[in-house]
Amino acid sequence: MRNVRILEFKDIIDTRNSERPMGHLTPIESGIDIPFDIKRVYYLTRVPENTTRGFHAHRKLQQVLICTNGKVTIDVSTPSEKKSFVLDDPAKGLYVGPMVWREMYDFSAGAVLTVLASEHYQEEEYIRDYEEYRRLAQEYFKEK
Ligand code: TYD
Repeated sequence: MRNVRILEFKDIIDTRNSERPMGHLTPIESGIDIPFDIKRVYYLTRVPENTTRGFHAHRKLQQVLICTNGKVTIDVSTPSEKKSFVLDDPAKGLYVGPMVWREMYDFSAGAVLTVLASEHYQEEEYIRDYEEYRRLAQEYFKEK
């Protein structure tokens, strides 16, 4: 799907010299693991059951969404494509580029959705009206 893809990060399982498991470590380096310079990080926590968030697209912003704990489902769509991703692996990120409509739901109890963003927060950058989104996205993807 255009402007959407899964990124795979390192999943380091370091047992040192012992055989005992010591957990997982995932490093994320701006410009290396993420295809942009990270200017902002935010996270969604304590999302109640049966909550759907999102319902918007961004004009230019690029983001990588990582479920660093638990599980969440993310639907992404453009006027001509739609995909659903279940994120439940801290070593995978969902890259979402410009002009992609997103909805996030089915947050498990204790889920943490961490988001890395290419720009500082600007409300004017959001498109929150679906009809406006559809019109702008049709033009945007026609030109691509
Ligand atoms: P929003 O991006 O709409 O959340 P979601 O897509 O998860 O439903 O943001 C919710 C509110 O938080 C909105 O009032 C804007 C504010 N906000 C900031 O002030 N700074 C930020 O970096 C973000 C992402 C949101």
